[in-house]
Amino acid sequence: MKTLKWWQQAVFYQIYPRSFADGNGDGIGDFPGMLARLDHMVELGVDAIWLSPHYPSPFRDCGYDIADYTDVAPEYGSLDGFCRFLTAAHARGLRVIIDLVLNHTSDQHPWFQASRSSRTHPQRDWYVWRDGTPDGPPNNWVSIFGGSAWTYDEATGQYYYHAFLKEQPDLNWCHPDVKEAMWQVVRFWLDLGVDGFRLDAIGTIFEHPDLSNHQFPLTHKPIIDIGSLSGEEIRQILQFQIHQPGLHELMQELRTLVDTYPGERVLVGEDENVMFHGDGDNELHLVFNFPLMQTHALTPAHIRDNQALRLTDLPSGAWPCNTLGNHDVSRMWHRYGDGLHNDALARVHLALLLTLRGTPFLYYGEELGMTDLHFSALSDVRDTIALHQFRLLTEQAGVGYADALQHVLARTRDRCRTPMQWDRSRHAGFSQASSATWLPVHPNYLQGITVEDQKSDPQSMLSFCRQILALRRRTPALIAGDYRVLHPHSEHYLAFLRHDPLSGQLCLILLNFSAHVQELTLTCNRPEARLLFSSGSRSEPQLPLASVTLVPYEILIAELDPCAPYGSD
Ligand code: GLC
Repeated sequence: MKTLKWWQQAVFYQIYPRSFADGNGDGIGDFPGMLARLDHMVELGVDAIWLSPHYPSPFRDCGYDIADYTDVAPEYGSLDGFCRFLTAAHARGLRVIIDLVLNHTSDQHPWFQASRSSRTHPQRDWYVWRDGTPDGPPNNWVSIFGGSAWTYDEATGQYYYHAFLKEQPDLNWCHPDVKEAMWQVVRFWLDLGVDGFRLDAIGTIFEHPDLSNHQFPLTHKPIIDIGSLSGEEIRQILQFQIHQPGLHELMQELRTLVDTYPGERVLVGEDENVMFHGDGDNELHLVFNFPLMQTHALTPAHIRDNQALRLTDLPSGAWPCNTLGNHDVSRMWHRYGDGLHNDALARVHLALLLTLRGTPFLYYGEELGMTDLHFSALSDVRDTIALHQFRLLTEQAGVGYADALQHVLARTRDRCRTPMQWDRSRHAGFSQASSATWLPVHPNYLQGITVEDQKSDPQSMLSFCRQILALRRRTPALIAGDYRVLHPHSEHYLAFLRHDPLSGQLCLILLNFSAHVQELTLTCNRPEARLLFSSGSRSEPQLPLASVTLVPYEILIAELDPCAPYGSD
C-alpha cells in the first residue's frame, strides 16, 4: 500500500477570516489577528487551514462575491500580510488552502463592469447575457438564494444570469478567455505558496445552453429558499442549472494545472458528487460527504447507511472527506442537539468525525462547543441573503411581516459566523474594538465557552478535542485504516473497526449516541482489547470484549491484537 499523501492524513480547520481574530481593533477579523492565533491550531492538533474568502469584496455574500481575485480585502490586511500569515503557518507545519469562487464574481468586479458597459464590449460574453421574453426573464430558472435567476440591466436592455444573488453574476465558462483569466488567478496563489483550494459551488459553473424552462410546477410554491425543498424538488428545479456537461473536463484541466506545482497542492470541491473524483486520481482530491451531515439526527443507522453508500460509490483510489459543520449551516452543537444533552452529543459527533475513514474538516469554534446565536433584529444581520429573502417573503409570497422576520432570523447564516471566543475579556478576546464587533459575540463566552477557560480544564470540550486529535495523530489505523461496521442493527450505538494493512494496526470504535447504558458483546477471537481512549471513567487498561458496558454517550477507542484476523462480530 502506498504511503498516504499529506491531505489524506490531515485534519482541516475552517477559519472564517472576518470572525477569527481582530488584530487592529476595528471589530473585524484580519490577517494579523489570525497570525497571532496560529498557535491555537497547533495546540489543537490540526494540520491544515481552510480560509473562507479573503479577497476584496462588497460583501453582499460575505466575501463569496469577489471583486478582485489577486488581492486581500483591505479590512483583512494586505497581500504582504497574507504572505506573512502563510509563511508563519508553514513554519508551524500548518498547510493553508484558500477559497476560490469560480462560478461568479461580484457585480463590482472590473470584468463585470466592463461586460455590462455595452453590448459590444469585448468582455460582454464573459458573463451570461440574454434577451428577455414577452413574460420578462429569458426563462423560469431560479436563484439558489430565491427569486428569479435573471436580472434586467436597464442600460443595455438584456438580462444577466446569476445562480446566487443578483450581485453575483455568473461567469460564462464557455468563453476561453474566462478560463484563461481564472487559471492565471490559480497560478498567482500557487506561486505565492498556498497548498490548494476549496472550490466554491462547482456544480453551478455551467448552464444548459438551450436555456429551456424547468418543468417543476412552481405555482403553489414560490421559491424563496431552495434549501427548504426536498432533494428531488431541487434536482428538478435546477435541472438545467447545475451539473451540466463540461464540468468534469474543466476540473480535470484544473487538476492538471495544479499538478504542475510541487508539494501535492490539493483541490477540495464544494459538492457531494463522487463523480468529481474522476478516475480517482485525475480530478478533485477531495469532495465533501455532505449527505452525512444532511440529517436532523445523526443516528447510528443514518451513519452506517451513509458510509455503506459513500465508501462503495467512491471510485478506486479516491479518498473520503467528512464534515459536520461549516459557515452555511447551523452549528453542530445545535443542529444535532436534543436540547438536553447537546454537550455530550457534540463530543460523540466530534469523535465520529475524527474516527471515520477520510479527511475531516472541522469548523472553527466547534472545538469549544460554540453555539448558534439567535438574532432578534434584522439590523444586526450582516448576511444580506436574509434581507433578500425577507423581501421575497413579504413582497412576493404574501407572508406577514412578523412571520417573515421570524423565518429569516431563525435561518440566517450569521448564526454560525459569530466571533471566535478566546477569553472572558471584552468581545471575548476577539477584538480590542471600543465599539461593536461586525457581528455580535455570543454572550455564552461569559459561561466558559472560550479557549482560555477550556484549555486548563481537562474535562472541557477543547481538552477532549485535543486528546482525540492527538490520539488520531499517533494511531495509524485511525488515519489510514479501512472501515468495517460491527453490529449493523444496533439502534443506539455505533460500532466499527479501522484496520491499517500497512502497520497492521486494528482499532475498535464504540460510540454511544444515547442517554442510556448500552450492553454489548463483541464475539471475536480475542478476549480483550487495549483501551486507547474512553470518555467514561474506566480504570482498567484492558477491555474484556465478551461484555462491554458503555455509559451514556461514551466514546471508546481501543486497539485489538493485530495478529489474528477479526472473527465474527
Ligand atoms: C457556497 C458557499 C456559500 C456561498 C455560495 C455562493 O455554497 O459556501 O457561503 O453563499 O457558495 O458563493
